[in-house]
Amino acid sequence: MIETKQIRRYRTKYIKSTPDLIGEKVTVCGWVRTHRAQKTFSFVELNDGSEVSNLQIIMDQKIPEYESMIQKIATGASISVTGTVTESPGKGQSVEISAESFKVIGEAPTDYILQKKRHSFEFLRTIAHLRPRTNTFGAVTRVRSQMAYATHKFFQGRDFAYVQTPIITSADCETHGEMFHVTTLDKNKVPKTEDGKVDYSKDFFEKETFLTVSGQLNGEAYATALRDIYTFGPTFRAENSNTSRHLAEFWMIEPEFTFADLDDNMDLAEDYLKYLVKHAIDHCGSDLEFFNKFIDKTLLERLSLVLETPCTRLSYTDAIEILLKSGKKFEFPVSWGVDLSSEHERYLCEEHFKGPVILYNYPKEIKPFYMRKNDDGKTVAAMDVLVPGVGELMGGSQREERLDVLLKNLEEANLPLETYNWYVDLRRYGTTPHAGFGLGFERLVQYVTGMENIRDVIAFPRYPKHAEY
Ligand code: 4AD
Ligand code: MG
Repeated sequence: MIETKQIRRYRTKYIKSTPDLIGEKVTVCGWVRTHRAQKTFSFVELNDGSEVSNLQIIMDQKIPEYESMIQKIATGASISVTGTVTESPGKGQSVEISAESFKVIGEAPTDYILQKKRHSFEFLRTIAHLRPRTNTFGAVTRVRSQMAYATHKFFQGRDFAYVQTPIITSADCETHGEMFHVTTLDKNKVPKTEDGKVDYSKDFFEKETFLTVSGQLNGEAYATALRDIYTFGPTFRAENSNTSRHLAEFWMIEPEFTFADLDDNMDLAEDYLKYLVKHAIDHCGSDLEFFNKFIDKTLLERLSLVLETPCTRLSYTDAIEILLKSGKKFEFPVSWGVDLSSEHERYLCEEHFKGPVILYNYPKEIKPFYMRKNDDGKTVAAMDVLVPGVGELMGGSQREERLDVLLKNLEEANLPLETYNWYVDLRRYGTTPHAGFGLGFERLVQYVTGMENIRDVIAFPRYPKHAEY
């Protein structure tokens, strides 16, 4: 029997960062990364997931179990080791463990795929259940966890209430029509109405339902009561986008706050972005250094620059001017009224401004029904936050709080009042100016790690043709 209380006490990160432990006896456990056998002893590199670097263990042949057990210590095996923390004479580590005893808990035969050689990220996606054991995915996972923690800290610190909005919905918030159906109808015997359409009145909810694309509309109901709220949950888009920035299932953080306009919204977005970056720098130091060394050599410089400089704020109209004057040949030509594509967004934040840019006041035709119409009659009070390497990180707006304008918008967008009537009620009773935005959590993780593909910053990515695990 292994004394779990004893082995759970010491994470390798804690041992390395606690000088008082030198000379103390500890037990550590984790997975073997490498094992180098010398004549009379062995070096074992142990990783327990607490940080990217390993803890070195010296196993001397005088240890009683050495002869019988040492050949079982192979890459991937799980072991526990008891020994003394000693200052390390070797380069690259401050302390190591001089083992007094060890146990092999789970062996890993030589067909274990994660041997020392480097694998491509494409290959690692095909073993998504094992990739958390690699340096990169361990680091991504820790940064992701810290970004979630920082999100709650930021909003809770400003007294925003965390609201959990539904995942199953009948409303299409972004009016893209790119939603996954939720149904219990028998696909082989779909009930039909007289005019040949699917009869959803026979379905579980007695209406057509989907996985949500956004919690915003529900969030607004709570913001117009509690004043300031945020959501943080999974969202789904059935868009057939095979890009490095799109997932079919991703996580979104959506603050919504009342008695607030577009300027307040841009201020909140900028504060939140800087808070996240600062938190990453302060709490993910060794992981960010790892990314800076192996993934994106400009990462640390880029992140610290963000903290020092205000985000550029620029109207859509001015952005179009810049793009037209850039002299660049874009795949999708630019003119006032077009939806910006990723090449335009990236030109603006990567080449022209070289930092985060907040674009606002977009043409109303390319934005959803809930955004507030500006007085010019042509634009809405929308905003997108664009960041280098990623493009659009956040999208939001001031909301249309005027009852008559909202009703007209719904009609123009061909959205049935019976589905959105509850949402309109928020304007019928005690309406207020309010605003909010959505931040794509995976795009944030890409931004603070420099990881190129969004499929590599979420545990088990869902994208066209892929829903394994
Ligand atoms: O711009 P979007 O579509 O905005 C909304 O859904 C609003 N209801 C948000 C709000 O105002 N409360 O999505 C918001 C963000 C985008 O800026 C992007 O970062 C991310 O969500 N996003 C995706 N991330 C990964 N995969 C996808 N398919 C994404 N679609 C949007
Ligand atoms: Mg958007």
